[in-house]
Amino acid sequence: MQTIFDAEFAREPWPVLRSLRDDGGVHRVATPDGPPAWLITRYADVRAGLLDDRLSTNLRYSRGDDYRGFAVPEPLDVFQSSEPGDLARLRSLVVGELRLAGDWSERAAELVGKCVAEVNGAAEFDFVARVALPLPAVILGELLGLPESERDSLAAWAEATMAPDARPRARDTLSAMQRIISAVIARGRDGADDTMLGRLVRSGIGGTAGDSGELPGLLFYLLFVWYEVLMDVLAGAVLTLSTRPEQLAELLSAADRSVAVDELLRFLSPQVLASPRFATTDLVIAGRSIAAGETVLLCLASANHDPERFTGTVESNGAVALDVRRAPNPHVALGHGAHACVGTALLRPVLASILGELYLHLPRLRAADTEQNVPWRSGFRHRGPLTLPVLAR
Ligand code: HEM
Repeated sequence: MQTIFDAEFAREPWPVLRSLRDDGGVHRVATPDGPPAWLITRYADVRAGLLDDRLSTNLRYSRGDDYRGFAVPEPLDVFQSSEPGDLARLRSLVVGELRLAGDWSERAAELVGKCVAEVNGAAEFDFVARVALPLPAVILGELLGLPESERDSLAAWAEATMAPDARPRARDTLSAMQRIISAVIARGRDGADDTMLGRLVRSGIGGTAGDSGELPGLLFYLLFVWYEVLMDVLAGAVLTLSTRPEQLAELLSAADRSVAVDELLRFLSPQVLASPRFATTDLVIAGRSIAAGETVLLCLASANHDPERFTGTVESNGAVALDVRRAPNPHVALGHGAHACVGTALLRPVLASILGELYLHLPRLRAADTEQNVPWRSGFRHRGPLTLPVLAR
């Protein structure tokens, strides 16, 4: 069994992932918490795994001592534990609401303007603390229709969980989440709230009990699950574009910036792994036998840098170089298949608009230090800079 998930992996996973791909692609690894799992690293196997209904996200198929993932308490795990029919119903409810929210790019641009104004002309600041961390709360709050008090609670939760000096304790984090979810449900139930959350609360999911069943799980995803990846992709993009001015110029002059957004998602792969899958039956992947109940980690980041699938320069660290004009771009940074990200349609225009607006206000924005000196958070499922000192003038 190999131990690969260390602090160096968080900063620079590419050399290790390249060697795992070159050496058969499927490996038994130790997770940072200790329990083992199968890690799938080649693009073809990862993509096939995302479509394979013998690999379930439902924890009830887990057996033995394998890694079981971040233990989301039961009422919150709807997207992982629902049967296929319920999953499709929930997903279409969210996708429908997101579609109703319309084109969010203009509103997102305004909100970025406000957030950048708060930096107040500073010549140097920490981009994570001042922009990437607070911005998702502002955008989410507005998009989902959170009143001021809940928006403040969301921002406080993010600060306590993800700020560089935060030492989050799962129990405190979960209780803060539960409080926000209960407030959203109570307000939605009083009926006056014509926002996305208000409509979801009244849509009849989860029955009338309100805080049991599917509804809290749905809100949990909408409010919290994508927070960290959005923050990671923003800080990661600024860091990456700092040393690639020609790519930044291409991005800013593109007629359709969502092509560049997809490439940044591929290159950065902020969600390193898909949610753990559990083998529902004995199966074989790339010649390795996986027993029913064992845990399979599909490595989206590795698939996204597999030179067998993505052409272009392979950098000395094994990463396939950033090319913001890459099209088609069949990356799996947002997953694929039954559990693919439901936020995709919203995400592309919003991210394109945030990046455009950011550089419009701060055209000289760049990292103050070299990529090697930027500290990365040491989670193994997500990746993003812990802090990012930037120069703005
Ligand atoms: C940079 C931003 C984002 C990234 C990188 C991202 C990435 C992902 C990935 C990789 C998955 C698939 C996980 C798997 O197969 O195990 C996923 C699922 C999901 N995402 Fe996103 N996401 C982002 C933003 C969003 C947004 C904007 C929303 C909604 C507003 C959202 C809601 C969800 C939900 C509900 C799921 C679970 C779907 C399911 O299990 O059926 N995400 N996301």
